[in-house]
Amino acid sequence: MKTDRIVIRGSLRDVARTIGQLPRRNSLIRRSRPDLPDEGFIPSLADALHPRRQDLVVQELRRESPSTFTYRLAPARDDGLIAPFRPGRYLSVEVPVAEGPPIRRPFSICNSPTDARRRNAYEITVASGPGAFIADRIHRDWSVGTPVVASDPQGVFTYEPLRDPGMLVGIAGGSGVTPLRSIISEALEGDGDPEGDPASLILIQGARRAEELLFEDEFRRLETAYPERFRRICVLSEEPREGDGRGFIDAGIIADAMGDAEAALFICGPEGMHRHLDGQIPMLPRTPRRIRREDYGRSGAPSGRSALNIAVRRPGGPFQSIPADSGETVLVALERAGLNPPSSCRNGSCGWCRARLLDGSVRYEPEPTGLRAGDRERNHIHPCVALPEDDLVLEIMEA
Ligand code: FES
Repeated sequence: MKTDRIVIRGSLRDVARTIGQLPRRNSLIRRSRPDLPDEGFIPSLADALHPRRQDLVVQELRRESPSTFTYRLAPARDDGLIAPFRPGRYLSVEVPVAEGPPIRRPFSICNSPTDARRRNAYEITVASGPGAFIADRIHRDWSVGTPVVASDPQGVFTYEPLRDPGMLVGIAGGSGVTPLRSIISEALEGDGDPEGDPASLILIQGARRAEELLFEDEFRRLETAYPERFRRICVLSEEPREGDGRGFIDAGIIADAMGDAEAALFICGPEGMHRHLDGQIPMLPRTPRRIRREDYGRSGAPSGRSALNIAVRRPGGPFQSIPADSGETVLVALERAGLNPPSSCRNGSCGWCRARLLDGSVRYEPEPTGLRAGDRERNHIHPCVALPEDDLVLEIMEA
């Protein structure tokens, strides 16, 4: 007789961790209310946890480097509360532009959930640089008291003790250190699960020069306070500093950080750094247990070679013709034309920008993680990472 078997995959450590959670789970169940919650409780809880829109205001700003500021965003209403979040998540922030409807940009929340809860405020760090048109606008237009519209906290770049191994190696390029600051601060000083395993954390922080290394004082303080659990390695590509690595983060530096431990890599930084690491990670002597990535989305670079056309409409509306470039994403072309398609992560993972391709073809470099089989069947594309191959006919959703 054939019997079904349940196969449990994973290490003994995973199994032990799962079993270790059971007493706590049972105690939570015992302490829960036996009566059903009021009607309306669940929808109002869902709204509080995942509001479609948060009306915030700049409460404070501070300079982190010559081109980088941190903005503290608190609820605009005195009785408002920020939506809670897991460390590593981002807010999709609306930035008004004179030429049309506001443009959305994702910014990682850089303070820890514990700090955010105590202050009732998020912190985001915004770095300007070549082509950082939106960051420049923010630096120019935001001051204390500026109203800011943001999404609820989103994203999957989060450390999960039950799933991830006990060692986390964070690899950050430039302002890519912001979500890792939240993860590290929460792991070391947050008031999370007191019974959880304390993770060991190594941060490999890359920048061009020392003055661009964000949160130096805070990371130094944490290294001193938690020498057994936190270590930082700095790598500078343009102006070396004594005691720091030179050049770019490579397989040798990552392997030294990992040692013999089972580790998860958390990588966040510009597109160029991700591409560089794509070539380095296969050279590691030990395969990381997990690799999680966050990038800030692609705008592409205008090639100037292919002047293309996108005929675009909203459902049921008339077509409008806009110019596009084969080197820039479809989303950038739409925003440049003053349209306001929905978007959030800008890296192909959330699916908010999903649009229907009626004619033409696009390419991805690489294929986005959020593209589902159903998207292919319905000819849905993710404009935030899709590069036009030829003229397109497109239907976008309402923002
Ligand atoms: S904005 Fe998230 S997939 Fe495009």
